[in-house]
Amino acid sequence: MDGNGRWATARGLPREEGHRAGVAAVRRIVEVVPRLGVDLLTLYAFSSDNWRRPQAEVDHLMRLLLEFLETDLPECIERGARIRVIGSRARLGETLRAAIATAESATAGGRDMEVRIALDYSSRDAILAAAQRAATSNTLTREDFARRLSGDGSAELPESRDVDLLIRTGGESRLSDFLLWECAYAELYFTDTPWPDFDETHFAAAIRTFYTRQRRFGGLPAYPSQVRSAQTRQYAEYWLR
Ligand code: FPP
Repeated sequence: MDGNGRWATARGLPREEGHRAGVAAVRRIVEVVPRLGVDLLTLYAFSSDNWRRPQAEVDHLMRLLLEFLETDLPECIERGARIRVIGSRARLGETLRAAIATAESATAGGRDMEVRIALDYSSRDAILAAAQRAATSNTLTREDFARRLSGDGSAELPESRDVDLLIRTGGESRLSDFLLWECAYAELYFTDTPWPDFDETHFAAAIRTFYTRQRRFGGLPAYPSQVRSAQTRQYAEYWLR
């Protein structure tokens, strides 16, 4: 979700306002997720390298996350969204950890979509931790390994899933330690739109682009799971008309 800081600076606002606008964008996107045929959305909210930012910005981001988990919880339940957090919880504040636990258990019955928030997340650390936990097995499969991949073992985390579409906003064209194993065959979509301006139309455009990609997974065309449903496509077209 890149470009929050620059979005704010361009408007003469403090960077914090950009992150606040970023949360508004999160709300907009979560609202259209199921209608676009997406059943799992992972939001890269705070990387393990983001601890390098000034303390005031880190504190602000943590406050926004806490606020989101508390304020938006009823709406998430109403929307049938299951919230889960991946990454490491060891360095998070006690209040935030408790809010995560509450949100996860209160939305555990959510069946319409899953929203994963990557928080203090590093894919390299997750891979390393999975390797350490798997080290005693000599019959390890890719699937066994992938099951251990969502964090550092500090909490019981959801199983990893292969990424179909990775969207990065704000003009950056990097993976930045995000779901490296899971993105092995992800379709990559980079856009200059800063995250606070990213809305349902942009999201639909990204999904329409996804449908134009021929996914071969090293084999030959065409892979049927690419076409999820005509209805979903129609919805994307609706936003792009
Ligand atoms: C990167 O933009 C953005 C972040 C490091 C924070 C993203 C977090 C949120 C939007 C908070 C809310 C998340 C949820 C799930 C409620 P940047 O600050 O690097 O922007 P810049 O590249 O313009 O400086």
